[in-house]
Amino acid sequence: MTVGHSGHPDYTGLAGSPSPARRFALVALIVLVFVGAGIGSAFAQAGDAQAGKLVYERKCALCHGEKGDGKGPAAELLVPKPRDFTTGVYKIRTTANKVPTDRDLFRVITDGMPGTSMPSWAVLPEKDRWNLVAHLKTLAPDTFKEAPKKLELPKEVASSPESIRRGKEMYEAIECNKCHGTDGRADGPSRPELKDDWGNPIAPANLTMPWRFRGGSAPVDVATRLANGVVGTPMPSFIDSVEKPEDVWHLANYILSLGPRTLTYATLVSVTNVSDAIPDDPDAAFWKAIAPNHIALLGQVIVDPRNFNPSIDLVSVRAVYHDKEIAFHLTWDDPMQSVEDAAKKTYADAISLQFPPQPRPGPERPYFLMGDASDGVYLLRWQNGKGVTEATANGPTKIVPLAGSEATAKAVYANGQYRLVIKRPLASKHPDRLTFQPAVFTPVAFQAWDGGAGETGTKMSLTSWYYLRLEEPQSNRRFVVPPVVAILTFAALLLVVRVANRRA
Ligand code: HEC
Ligand code: HEC
Repeated sequence: MTVGHSGHPDYTGLAGSPSPARRFALVALIVLVFVGAGIGSAFAQAGDAQAGKLVYERKCALCHGEKGDGKGPAAELLVPKPRDFTTGVYKIRTTANKVPTDRDLFRVITDGMPGTSMPSWAVLPEKDRWNLVAHLKTLAPDTFKEAPKKLELPKEVASSPESIRRGKEMYEAIECNKCHGTDGRADGPSRPELKDDWGNPIAPANLTMPWRFRGGSAPVDVATRLANGVVGTPMPSFIDSVEKPEDVWHLANYILSLGPRTLTYATLVSVTNVSDAIPDDPDAAFWKAIAPNHIALLGQVIVDPRNFNPSIDLVSVRAVYHDKEIAFHLTWDDPMQSVEDAAKKTYADAISLQFPPQPRPGPERPYFLMGDASDGVYLLRWQNGKGVTEATANGPTKIVPLAGSEATAKAVYANGQYRLVIKRPLASKHPDRLTFQPAVFTPVAFQAWDGGAGETGTKMSLTSWYYLRLEEPQSNRRFVVPPVVAILTFAALLLVVRVANRRA
């Protein structure tokens, strides 16, 4: 809040030649703001633990438990588990020892921990959040007997191609890849053995998805995590392993070059019309020129066996068609390749696209969970080791392959990621096989299985219905603004500005 935004209609008059009374009002307002901020920071120093306990019982006990031991009623279903505050172990610190500052705790309560079920509590009044900090500290008095020791980060190095190159060298030299994988997709060879300090299996962070970093994705957040590690997890502190202290910035810059800071999810899957032949190879340059539609998947929790902690929660879809064929290029991360093997009790990694069997007028669609007895769906299913099949489903356990499949697929797996192309003729005379039509909104849904994580059958991740739209063939005319129109628009704009100025 600033004084200038107090909404006083005569604000410009106040700033120009203020009368004594007005000057007094302005000064009083400024003083008030400062006093207000002063009260705010007084709370920062001394939250009221007793008041914090009351807020804690209402808002936090469900996950963290009445006593703060991490054993709330919801804890059983959550991965990672809610923190046991009685251990005094905190992951996110700006300190060189294991004791977080009050502000560290305040920030984690305010921002939450991305990629986990720990929500942001910015909705609570600031005072309540400082009171919560005070309450949490009483749960581990031994930890907080020691004073937090400030971590001194070397001077920030801005990102640049040289800095990123240096960071990549360090990434390989220090062997971050042993846990995080060659390309940072959490598929390193040590992954299966990693456990946190509470004995639970823990996955390394997928470094291509910084929006899920527990402690935030600003360069200073990442550099701090690298410098002092993530306490309670196998993620070590690196300030003493890098050659020069500023290497933590080069490493941070390299990591933040691996993926976008945030992701925009698609609401509609658009299918681009192309005139060239569509390549089978998922790594062909052709596909890089098509914009991906990012689709979020959730665990299937409606029918048993359920999947509360799904492995695959993001699939990026590129889709194209021409007058004969339609093709889907799918990209998703999976830390381990796996195929169906009854002897080893492993399952195939798999993905499927679901459509109604035929386009229909009106908004009615089959039940999103693979249809039901009276209203089935059409599936394009790809399974690692088996390839693509076309099928009809009347529910998740009633999948029947269609004879004489017309679909083909080619997959590539490398460094923790699948890239897959599925192709099919655009039209079909078969009543159970959808004919795709340009400019029609066709319902589509997705399902995915990480066989290596034990996902099979109803243990999957999925989406509800989305819409697919085949863009109509483009004519150049639509995108060129004729010069006459441009000049007229500009003239109209000038006129509007003139009139507005004269009024003012
Ligand atoms: C829906 C469940 C849930 C609720 C409700 C919840 N938390 Fe959490 N919280 C978690 C989980 C899960 C973690 C552990 C995440 C991890 O270890 O990566 C966590 C971790 C924390 C941490 C540890 C941060 C660190 O640096 O290690 C703090 C502090 C915290 N929660 C405070 C709170 C407070 C205060 C409330 C109530 C206002 C609250 N939580 C409510 C799930 C929850
Ligand atoms: C022994 C395994 C291991 C090694 C080696 C390792 N990490 Fe990690 N790292 C982890 C684990 C496990 C986590 C997840 C912690 C969590 O979920 O709380 C993690 C998390 C991270 C995070 C996310 C922090 C956050 O805010 O959530 C980053 C960034 C990271 N590591 C970078 C690196 C870099 C860079 C290196 C090498 C200099 C490295 N790691 C080496 C295991 C490791």
